Amino acid sequence: MPIHVNNFMGRLGWTLRKRMPRLSSALYLRLQFLTRGGGQRAYTEWFLAQTPAPQPNVVNIETINRCNSTCAFCTANVNAEKRPLRRIDEGLYRSIIDQLADWGYRGHLTLYGNNEPWLDRRIVEFHRYAREKLPDSFIFMSTNGLLLDVAKVDAIKPYVNQLIINNYCTDMRLHPNVEEIRRHVLAHPDDYAGIDILVQMRYLGEVLTNRAGSAPNKGARSRPLRETCLLPFTDMWIMPNGRLGLCCCDNFETTDMADLSKTPLREAWESPALADARRRIAEGRQNYPFCRQCDFIDAGFRMQLVRAILRGDQEGAHRIGGEEKKLGS
Ligand SMILES: C[S@@+](CC[C@H](N)C(=O)[O-])C[C@H]1O[C@@H](n2cnc3c(N)ncnc32)[C@H](O)[C@@H]1O
Ligand code: SF4
Ligand code: SF4
Repeated sequence: MPIHVNNFMGRLGWTLRKRMPRLSSALYLRLQFLTRGGGQRAYTEWFLAQTPAPQPNVVNIETINRCNSTCAFCTANVNAEKRPLRRIDEGLYRSIIDQLADWGYRGHLTLYGNNEPWLDRRIVEFHRYAREKLPDSFIFMSTNGLLLDVAKVDAIKPYVNQLIINNYCTDMRLHPNVEEIRRHVLAHPDDYAGIDILVQMRYLGEVLTNRAGSAPNKGARSRPLRETCLLPFTDMWIMPNGRLGLCCCDNFETTDMADLSKTPLREAWESPALADARRRIAEGRQNYPFCRQCDFIDAGFRMQLVRAILRGDQEGAHRIGGEEKKLGS
């Protein structure tokens, strides 16, 4: 089926996330850190042993820094937003995609970050351009679905491998427009054979991670986690101001690894500033100021990617969906 509806751990999981949001988040994160330690370290060690640095696995380009939702856990929600409004310069966007193509990039690509991609009117054209230049990349979009309808799904479908619709709500029901999309796709499966649509039932008031201390409903850690973090090794994080940031937890655009309007993309990825950050974070978050208060860990997709790469299965890594399924992103 080209469309699936997922509610992580079913009604029981929903009830736990709603009634005991802090406990659910704490237990989930504890489990993730317990089970990931070895694999994360193996990847960071493998990465640091290579010269030049291996390519990123996920390139994230946020094209506009705004959202239209009220998710309690997210700094981009309309009540917590602090960033000056920015849209990425179109010439810079095209140049970044061209540089990825010249670099032979075949990894994952997203044209969203801490934002709602459908707020950018250029989003379909941006995806069209990316697909044309990067035909082998796995392009996926995550959206809150609030502005989505069948026409928009049809417009984006030639250019993305996967569409994740996060149905944030408090009543465990699909929004009427999302339900309409679900019915339409189920009624016309052949028209959607080339795309994987994943609808996720998400609780609007959930507690997730603290995003380096920036999440509106979860405080910073007082004692740093000594575990490493995969993100500076796997992800390239590009903000609408044209800067390369450290990772997705830079919700307020404060890290600045390079100005991509001046520095070529590959040079920025291989820069001494990022290499130094990686070396320090590899030894634990306590070693890098921006990471000291952070409890972020991704929901498992990056772990799957790096396991495939360490097995030498590059082709398998290219096909892994940006499936979220779990509590985090
Ligand atoms: C920031 S959203 C952007 C795309 C789109 N607006 C959406 O919500 O699907 C991307 C992912 O980040 C997750 N996210 C937001 N705040 C988070 C937090 N504090 N900890 C972990 N993940 C978070 C969201 O739940 C979502 O899965
Ligand atoms: S999680 Fe997505 S939909 Fe919710 S506020 Fe953040 S960016 Fe918006
Ligand atoms: S520990 Fe947190 S702030 Fe540091 S790189 Fe990882 S996700 Fe980003």
